[in-house]
Amino acid sequence: MDLHTSPGTADQGGTIDLKNPDLYVQGVPHETFAWLRANDPVHWNPEVDGAGFWALTRHEDIVQVSTDPETFSSARANGGHRIFNEDEAADPSVEASMISMDPPHHVDYRRMIMGGFTPPRLRDMEAGIRARANVLIDAMIVEQAASGEPIDFVASFSAPYAIQTLAELFGVSAADGDKLFEWSNAVVGEDDPELRSSQDYINACIQEMAIYSMGLWQLREQTPGDDLISMLVRSAKDGTDLPMQRYLATFILLVVAGNETTRNSITGGLIALDQNPDQRAALIADASLLPHAAQEIVRYISPVMHMRRTATRDVAIGGKTIRAGDKVVMWYGSGNRDEAVFDAPDQFDIRRTAPRNGAPAAAGRHLGFGFGQHVCLGQRLAELQLKVAFETLFQRLPNLKPVNAPRRLRSNFINGIKSQMVTF
Ligand code: HEM
Repeated sequence: MDLHTSPGTADQGGTIDLKNPDLYVQGVPHETFAWLRANDPVHWNPEVDGAGFWALTRHEDIVQVSTDPETFSSARANGGHRIFNEDEAADPSVEASMISMDPPHHVDYRRMIMGGFTPPRLRDMEAGIRARANVLIDAMIVEQAASGEPIDFVASFSAPYAIQTLAELFGVSAADGDKLFEWSNAVVGEDDPELRSSQDYINACIQEMAIYSMGLWQLREQTPGDDLISMLVRSAKDGTDLPMQRYLATFILLVVAGNETTRNSITGGLIALDQNPDQRAALIADASLLPHAAQEIVRYISPVMHMRRTATRDVAIGGKTIRAGDKVVMWYGSGNRDEAVFDAPDQFDIRRTAPRNGAPAAAGRHLGFGFGQHVCLGQRLAELQLKVAFETLFQRLPNLKPVNAPRRLRSNFINGIKSQMVTF
């Protein structure tokens, strides 16, 4: 049956299931999203294992929800920020982190670490990020020379690059990055049979993170620095309430939030540039395009595919009535290809700067980092990493090229690439 032309399309809720992770194994189903935007932009998506949810696919509706946390809650007690109900699934020994909180508490916790992502702090980090890119490229050259075969870009570059930056944010050694990497991978990848961890293993990782993060806390109490852990210690000393369980939750959030997202945007960006040789040539010829390219990569790839909210009152979105208690899921990859906002949205265009004429003000922004109350705290850091990665990679490996198709993650949440072989 053709999913898009079956009878009764306006109410064909049963046939499109955006929650099914199999839908994403061959790539993001952009045609399905385009159909939804045109025909059923606020789509009721039944669930096999739940009460169902509203799937938002238009930029405008996602902005409405993201900027109204009073009506659209992220709080764990109301279900949290994931498509499943966090209040039922979460490990009760780990408190909710800021991403699963609403104002005013959300603002307090966000403020504690905002200082880690300011422009001066990022300027200080840039040289270290560039040095790490160079060390990884050195190792790629040795690896390929030794084997004479294509090598895996994810394992050799994008994964260690992202995780080592996280290690720097925490002020720990790159060697500790291996632990952060293992823990982060254990907590995500829940729908991929190749990566899915047993609950015992996830619990063991959480225990290890608790012990490790407590050790770091004690170290920073004795010897403070300008890293994120020192900032949290300072906030607690300054009188901000930070129970240890909330500290652990913040630690886990940072480990998870900055890892896969950055990794997949770099790998996805490499593939997008390869598929658009004119854009790649323009970028190599003109380094001033790098900041635009970083933004366009995140729009085009949308490494986080959705976030969820729960309505706290009856409210209308796009002409549909959402009832208090209903789950609302915002599909960023679709909002980022909304033709009402972006000209030629399916085209990868590193010169893209302005929104489409006549689009509302918020439309100037892509939604790859979310929007509004919970907009990504690490967005400038992620863009910096993308910029430095492509600048360094193309300078040193001008013939860097993906070979064969990537191996994709089975997930409705992360637009993930498990491996991508390359030559150079
Ligand atoms: C390309 C890379 C990245 C993408 C696509 C991305 C995407 C997102 C998105 C969509 C949200 C919104 C969550 C919501 O509305 O519920 C978010 C929040 C967040 N991100 Fe990122 N992120 C990236 C990199 C990073 C990095 C490098 C860090 C830090 C190391 C980070 C830390 C956070 C934190 C702490 C939040 C929660 C903010 C809050 O609840 O107020 N992210 N991110």
